[in-house]
Amino acid sequence: RTKQQALFIIFGGTGDLAKRKLYPALFELYRKGILSEHFAVIGTARRPWSDEHYQTVVRNSVSADDQQQVNEFSKHFCYQSHNVNDTKHYVTLKKLAERLDQKFKIGGNRLFYLAMSPRFFGTIAGHLKSQKIVTADGYNRMIVEKPFGRDFKSANELNQAIGQYFAEKDVFRIDHYLGKEMVQNIFALRFGNNIFRSLWNSRYIDNIQITLSESLGVEERAGYYETAGALRDMVQNHILQIVSLLTMNMPASYSETDIRREKICALKALKVYQPQEVKQNFVRAQYVAANGLKGYRQEDQIDPQSQTETFAAGKIFVENENFSNVPIYIRTGKRLQTKATRIDIIFKAVPGNIFTTQQLADNILTIKVEPEGEISLQVNTKKVGQGYQLQQQQFNLFPADKHQLIPEAYEKLLADALVGDATNFTHWEEVAYSWKFVDAVRHAWDQQKAALATYPCGSMGPKQADQLLAADGRHWIFN
Ligand code: BG6
Repeated sequence: RTKQQALFIIFGGTGDLAKRKLYPALFELYRKGILSEHFAVIGTARRPWSDEHYQTVVRNSVSADDQQQVNEFSKHFCYQSHNVNDTKHYVTLKKLAERLDQKFKIGGNRLFYLAMSPRFFGTIAGHLKSQKIVTADGYNRMIVEKPFGRDFKSANELNQAIGQYFAEKDVFRIDHYLGKEMVQNIFALRFGNNIFRSLWNSRYIDNIQITLSESLGVEERAGYYETAGALRDMVQNHILQIVSLLTMNMPASYSETDIRREKICALKALKVYQPQEVKQNFVRAQYVAANGLKGYRQEDQIDPQSQTETFAAGKIFVENENFSNVPIYIRTGKRLQTKATRIDIIFKAVPGNIFTTQQLADNILTIKVEPEGEISLQVNTKKVGQGYQLQQQQFNLFPADKHQLIPEAYEKLLADALVGDATNFTHWEEVAYSWKFVDAVRHAWDQQKAALATYPCGSMGPKQADQLLAADGRHWIFN
């Protein structure tokens, strides 16, 4: 990729996300030469930091052997203390932006990164326009972090607030799972291989299982998490995005417009449940103390009576031509046994087993997204030797020596935003259909207060999540 010229203005520049993800990602782009002399970053937040302090924070957030390079990089960063509601502050911001634009010869390209509470998005977007911080001679793109609303209604309001000032093509809604290498690999697998493409439908696929398990607890995000819960935090965005990539029809081309069009159709085809169906098809639960770890209700700043789910599992359907009748089992939770993101595609059994005395194992295509990227296929082969015994074998389709080359999701997504490629960002309609599905689940849960199950820290979730599959004569492949 060629060198880019851009001024980033990061709202929420002192925050955790900026330090953990954005600065390291920007540094990688700098190290690779995608960002070089013609870039600058303005960090803004309420705290009264100096440029020097900010640059120290930036330097401390990246790890690199070449300290000289880190120092050079940090010189591109400036800080402005900013109250997003105060118009005067935008006047100062404009001057600073112009000064940096000239100093680094940026040419008017601007990326506004909103890494703060969504309730400020509209105000910020409005001020960027009214105070003319958007430029006439370069591009002006807005990158927004999650959560994009807390239900369809609030997401729609948020979208309208931003949409008054920024066109859809300039709004880049982050879902960092779309920046993960193995998630992006779904396209190559599905549409680059006839053996998978032709089998990718309800005639050959028995069921799909998606697990996003985390071993960490709620950590320091109690305030946000209490009002979100696992359904909003992980299902509405990351899981449904993965569902859309797995079930969408083949796009006319590998391009932003064609891919997003098909993803929208897939999400539109999600079967939205009635309250009674939610009860049958969804499980929610909360972690309780075990293995020396605190339960959710004992965590700092969590309501001791909290009804927030830290785990959600469900069976969902995408009712399009290829997937209606294929159950898609999903689950996600905090304080589970391990950190793992994986997808298992379980194919139907061979009709008529000729090896009458032996059971055939299922063909399973597994995409491990994390911690180690891996794609494997489970097949039946003959055991070497006399007689005729079968054995299961795993073919690994993704070479292990490629692991160290996998870039961080944020690095890839920022690089995409720099060139204006929104393929791996979520279109408003995707967000809208996802919320409509999730709202129906949430609505049913809010009506049945008693239905919150529990699971011990370090387990794989509540038994109800296993029963969900057992009721269909299936089990979780990943245990
Ligand atoms: C975020 C959620 O979107 O994704 C967090 O808000 C979660 O609660 C995180 O921990 C998981 O991301 P990753 O990349 O570590 O799997």
